[in-house]
Amino acid sequence: MTQYNKQDPSTIQAMFNSIAKSYDRTNAVLSFQLHKRWNRELVRLVVTPQSPAVFLDLCCGTGEIAYTHLTQTDVPCQTHFLDFSQEMLTCAKEKAIRLNIHPPHQLVFTQADAQAIPLPDASVDCATIAYGIRNVKDPSKCIREVFRVLKPGGTFGILELTEPTNPVLRFGHSVYLRVFLPIIGRCMSANQDAYQYLCNSIHAFVQPVILEKALIKAGFTRIVRQSLSGGIATILFAKKEC
Ligand SMILES: C[S@@+](CC[C@H](N)C(=O)[O-])C[C@H]1O[C@@H](n2cnc3c(N)ncnc32)[C@H](O)[C@@H]1O
Repeated sequence: MTQYNKQDPSTIQAMFNSIAKSYDRTNAVLSFQLHKRWNRELVRLVVTPQSPAVFLDLCCGTGEIAYTHLTQTDVPCQTHFLDFSQEMLTCAKEKAIRLNIHPPHQLVFTQADAQAIPLPDASVDCATIAYGIRNVKDPSKCIREVFRVLKPGGTFGILELTEPTNPVLRFGHSVYLRVFLPIIGRCMSANQDAYQYLCNSIHAFVQPVILEKALIKAGFTRIVRQSLSGGIATILFAKKEC
């Protein structure tokens, strides 16, 4: 069995490369399509009414979050897709063609670590990271980087899978994660170890309160926590004051 270890990012990178092609299909089945609703909510909270001129989607995977925004606006948006998995970025590029996303939108695909964003200070209007921060070795470093690249007034949204606080829901959720999710993942993906890692990583999730503290320490204000579907997922919204 391959041991995927957050402390060794190259193993995580290899794992995401190996599941990139089946990621969207498997994700849709495993989340019962709930993730589509959560993604829309993230975009609704983070995207400013006048639409951001520059949007950054960290740990973008196949680009689901950015495309949720781009498919519903004609306002020109320069969108940075950032991920350390080249295979995920390739899938994201192919999806842009399928979804017919074209100028005036400008898409920039960058293979990079979310802890060292290759963008200038104060250059981004809004940033998102969905289902990604639990894989990042040092989440505080990533949050500090987002603060650096955001313009004053910029917004940031973190969407993560979390454990429900209600004991009954928590028990059912735990059974689903430990028993059913690995079975479904095994049937749908060639890489069973990868889905085992994903299941384990949900249990090892860094608590929203810890992320909130990291957001405050980095300088963010107006932090709002929104629980989704009974706490199976959580959005943290934060703003960089003008
Ligand atoms: C579970 S997927 C989520 C993808 C996407 N955000 C979505 O909504 O479906 C996590 C993604 O984070 C990327 N990732 C994990 N750690 C990273 C890091 N330190 N820097 C950049 N990308 C990272 C992985 O390659 C993978 O594509």
